[in-house]
Amino acid sequence: VKNDNKYKTIWTPQEGPQTAFLKTNAYEALFGGAKGGGKSEALLFSSLRFIDNGNYKALILRRTFPKLLELIERSRCFAAIGGKYNRQERMWRFHSGAIIRFGHCENPGDELNYQGQEYQYIGFDQLEEFTETMYETIKAQGRSSIGLPVFIRSTANPGGVGAIFIKRRFIDAKEPNRKYYRTYELEGKKHSLCSVFIPSTVFDNKILMKNDPAYAAKLMDLPEKMRRMYLYGDWNIDNEPDQLIKYEWISEGLLTEEERIRKLSCRNADREKVFAGIDVARYGDDMTCIAIISDDRLWEMRKYEKIDLVQTTNLARALIEEENIPPENIALDCDGIGAGVFDNLKSYGYYVRQIIGGSRPLPVGEESYTFRNLRSGIYWNLREAIRTGKLKLINDQLLINELISIKYKISQDRMIQIESKEELKKRLGKSPDYADSLCYALAAGLFKIANGLNITIF
Ligand SMILES: Nc1ncnc2c1ncn2[C@@H]1O[C@H](COP(=O)(O)OP(=O)(O)OP(=O)(O)O)[C@@H](O)[C@H]1O
Ligand SMILES: [Mg+2]
Repeated sequence: VKNDNKYKTIWTPQEGPQTAFLKTNAYEALFGGAKGGGKSEALLFSSLRFIDNGNYKALILRRTFPKLLELIERSRCFAAIGGKYNRQERMWRFHSGAIIRFGHCENPGDELNYQGQEYQYIGFDQLEEFTETMYETIKAQGRSSIGLPVFIRSTANPGGVGAIFIKRRFIDAKEPNRKYYRTYELEGKKHSLCSVFIPSTVFDNKILMKNDPAYAAKLMDLPEKMRRMYLYGDWNIDNEPDQLIKYEWISEGLLTEEERIRKLSCRNADREKVFAGIDVARYGDDMTCIAIISDDRLWEMRKYEKIDLVQTTNLARALIEEENIPPENIALDCDGIGAGVFDNLKSYGYYVRQIIGGSRPLPVGEESYTFRNLRSGIYWNLREAIRTGKLKLINDQLLINELISIKYKISQDRMIQIESKEELKKRLGKSPDYADSLCYALAAGLFKIANGLNITIF
């Protein structure tokens, strides 16, 4: 960057995809896939491309503010090339007059705040966190009445709310690194909009590989599906025939942050309609999870690391005594040490629902199928609730990753069997704590229906 007629280097792109991303003249470019490929760095520093032009304006976005802060932090070195940072406006201004602004767009509708502004560079970091409406609306502010080209730049990992539109736009039926054109004729003149997807993986990031060689090993250590997404940047994350819950069912029914907060604020809603599922950690490295749903919305997933049975009992008591959730609306995993929590609660006079995976399935739900055991029935119930859009989930990547990892099979006599907890644990490298607690919360509702049918349940 030119400064006082001298050139100063504050950052150099690495050879390979990072350089390709900085060089491309395409209107729209997506950098991505895998984790750690040097995407955010490239997005941030490519915004400097035209700062010698006093009319140049750039905008860099993350969906939420806390995550944006990390990018702002990384931009500190802009000061070394004459940038002055204005905290209030979250904006760098350079000698020429050029500006680089940071922004976020958390809730649906926030994208409208960017209307009426003109930017020649708009960068979305982790585009998969944004909705298509946000992307399209903000992208429309990419305009240039000053003779510079307009560049829309994004980074993304597979997954997230934006996965479907990103795949459609940049990945499906397209070759990486190849430019695609959409042409429009206006007043007899043809205009082409060019887009390109540039993939990268951690192996392209030689600096990170050298400074933290264990990082790649950690990505290799991930459960199979996550490894495909984050180590290799595989976007085809929903193509397994024996996958119980399809990715797009989840992503189409995600609660927005705004809806979730509204939900949290009406905690005094009808307690009869609030259900909780508790998955008790069985081994030292598992998590105890509590999922809370009401009105068919998962609105909270609480996670506790390394807590003992007494603490878990107290958490369950608090749900009953402080949050007024009826004990019969709470379901508890009693296959392992959860049985101890069940007994503790009983001694307080609280009878919660026991989930014993291998026990008889509940006599409710699907009519055209039978289930191998209770676990199969309640997981099928969860799948159906998500598939039909009845149950809406929060955007919790860990939960979503678990849900899409679960496999099932249907035998010739139309009996449905869900992969056992042990099999799943072997395959994932961890037990599906989040998915289980959600499944149990929904099952507590099933128990209630079954009881209404006057069937004795054990
Ligand atoms: N050109 C570069 N010069 C110096 N360091 C770099 C460069 N590119 C990447 N790095 C280093 O690699 C690290 C990871 O890069 P970056 O955060 O851009 O990856 P990412 O692809 O955005 O990762 P994630 O998928 O986790 O968001 C950076 O923190 C930085 O230390
Ligand atoms: Mg990043």
